[in-house]
Amino acid sequence: MEEKIARLKQAAADKIRQHADTLSALNDIRVEFLGKKGEFTTLLRGLKELAQEERPRIGQIVNEARGQIEALLEKKKEELHVRDMEEKLANEKLDVTLPGRHQWRGHLHPLTLTLDRIKAIFMDMGFTVEEGPEIERDYFNFEALNLPKDHPARDMQDSFYITEEILMRTQTSPVQARTMQAHEPNTPIRMIAPGRVYRRDDYDATHSPMFTQVEGLVIDKGVRFSDLKGTLELFLHRIFNDNIGVRFRPSFFPFTEPSAEVDISCVMCHGKGCRVCKGTGWLEILGAGMVHPHVLEMSGYDPKQVTGFAFGLGVERIAMLSYGIDDLRLFYDNDLRFLRQFE
Ligand code: FA5
Ligand code: MG
Repeated sequence: MEEKIARLKQAAADKIRQHADTLSALNDIRVEFLGKKGEFTTLLRGLKELAQEERPRIGQIVNEARGQIEALLEKKKEELHVRDMEEKLANEKLDVTLPGRHQWRGHLHPLTLTLDRIKAIFMDMGFTVEEGPEIERDYFNFEALNLPKDHPARDMQDSFYITEEILMRTQTSPVQARTMQAHEPNTPIRMIAPGRVYRRDDYDATHSPMFTQVEGLVIDKGVRFSDLKGTLELFLHRIFNDNIGVRFRPSFFPFTEPSAEVDISCVMCHGKGCRVCKGTGWLEILGAGMVHPHVLEMSGYDPKQVTGFAFGLGVERIAMLSYGIDDLRLFYDNDLRFLRQFE
């Protein structure tokens, strides 16, 4: 009997060592030896055939052998667990050094930020914000602004025509005539009109064939050139700073008389003269003037009763000067290294 137990124990140990290469194979071995119909259970049942005095001793040997096999099974199970885990780690190659994925928060484009500041300053002064179409009639873009067909000043804005009568607007000034015609004659107006404009222009450090303007129009009884000067000076001091120099230079626009171009002292060199201001110490920032009497008349306003001033400024130029950017094309490249600086 003892011999049989020893043999059985050895057989179980051998099987565990040689054949238990998976957890389920190991379980099969457990059932084979220790299960309800297993070898050891059968052996224990056979005990009653032994002599009375032999039973306790043999019973103890059987239990000890069972305990040892139990321990071997447990140990093997642990080994298989560790092996499975290592295999998994090796195969899945989870790289814990990989940096986490960052969620970038979006933010406004520098041109939008600049436009918002411009709007806020004029709204503080009681201006409304108007809109006009980017695809515009020749009539509003030119004719209603005192630029009849074949007027030489059209050449300066030689443009993108869709038909003879329809074009991509070259300036925001058509919104002047649209706004006047939307009102009863001689109704006071104090508005700005921001938006995109299109010209057959170069694409260089200070020009783009598509850029952004803000138009301004003020009409009322007794509006004078000093109102134009005061309004634009206040605006420029607020958008840049109180120390910036502002200069009005005589100029020509067919829809204003007199006309001026407005310069600010160069924000890069503070008026000493540098590459950005081409050595002059001044930078052109907008065009302006008193609304031409004929322009008022064409839109139904009476120049004997009301007068007005208008201006048109370039948003890209203002953004460049307020952020110290020396190339306008950076606004349109969509290079995130540039854009993220405005977060
Ligand atoms: C005009 O467009 C006039 N409509 C302005 C005006 C309005 C005058 C009302 C009088 C009364 P000008 O072509 O100069 O004017 O353009 C105005 C501003 O737009 C310029 O001072 C400049 O800042 C900007 N600008 C002009 N061309 C470009 C361009 N290609 N790229 C970027 N900015 C430009
Ligand atoms: Mg100009």
